[in-house]
Amino acid sequence: MSSALDPAPATVTRVHPQQRWDGELVVTHFDAPTRSMIFIAVHNTTLGPATGGTRMMHYASPDDALEDALRLARGMTLKFAVPRFACGGGKAVIAIPATLEPEARLGLLRRYGGLLKKLNGLFYTGPDVGTSTADMDVIAETGAPYVFSRSVGKGGAGDSSGFTALGVYRAILATFAQLDGEGSPAGKTVLIQGLGNVGRKLLAHLRRDGIRVRFSDVNPALRTEFAGDPQIEFIPPDEIHATPCDVFAPCALGGGLNAETIPQLRCRAVVGAANNQLQSPEMAERLRARGILYAPDFVVNIGGAMGITGMEAMGWSEADATREVEKVGATLREIYARAAAENITTLAAAHRLAEANLLSAQSRSP
Ligand code: PHE
Repeated sequence: MSSALDPAPATVTRVHPQQRWDGELVVTHFDAPTRSMIFIAVHNTTLGPATGGTRMMHYASPDDALEDALRLARGMTLKFAVPRFACGGGKAVIAIPATLEPEARLGLLRRYGGLLKKLNGLFYTGPDVGTSTADMDVIAETGAPYVFSRSVGKGGAGDSSGFTALGVYRAILATFAQLDGEGSPAGKTVLIQGLGNVGRKLLAHLRRDGIRVRFSDVNPALRTEFAGDPQIEFIPPDEIHATPCDVFAPCALGGGLNAETIPQLRCRAVVGAANNQLQSPEMAERLRARGILYAPDFVVNIGGAMGITGMEAMGWSEADATREVEKVGATLREIYARAAAENITTLAAAHRLAEANLLSAQSRSP
């Protein structure tokens, strides 16, 4: 037995996830009725109040959920910092049990809204994986005005996935221009991983341009949805990384690009909607070494957060939001140009731009 004064042996010292994180603070709450853990990570408020989606899913452990919240919150800071959008980075993760009855889930959402209210503007939220516009309506019953993306009938700007898909689509067009010069994208191939709200709307944009779409989804029911459409092809999920395409578009959960999958890739570029696509930052080097152009996820997928918060908090019309989200294409071209000029990865170029923007905002504030 060691006494309180003995230094703990190094082998039993465990580093808390927050000790490896450069953010501001984390609010932790245990929802006893559903045995859910809620983590609200406030990463950086230099540009504005912390804003980010609420992710609601089952995790192997509370630590995994916390790690996800920390990483996702940092991603939001970077996302807003690249175009100097007046929001700070934050994220909420609600780690729910493997099964949760609909009634119990509603109760949880309402209590979560009460928590946001109590936090009094420390964190503003919107939908993310596992939550929807209908859920934002429920959270807002107790959590308004700290809830974005409520349905139009309840006074919100509605579903954010259309704006996200628009930004990703523009990023894919910009990437084709970067790779092949200006010209029609018709006949090129995009491989979409995950046909959720965003993936589905992205598919519609691409199809309209005559782009060939290959897609996979873990839901077997989608396998036959486009059967008979010569422009659209289903790919079994376990073959996704090795499937040839011009652009690979991850639009499912993050972490898919790792030391095992990157060597399999048969694409020329990666441009998708998922948050945290790279398992670690080093994966950007691996992609570069393979000659694959990587569009940093946080540059590409800002559309939903930007379009919705712009409309609800900054007085934008839908046309304003559309115009601003379409700028993702030009921003991405700038990142590609900086990476080439400085001979660094596109990820490093995007980090540098975000950090420079945060620094200049900091030096301007008192
Ligand atoms: N899920 C969005 C994202 O990751 C978060 C968001 C959506 C925030 C809508 C506000 C409004 O960027």
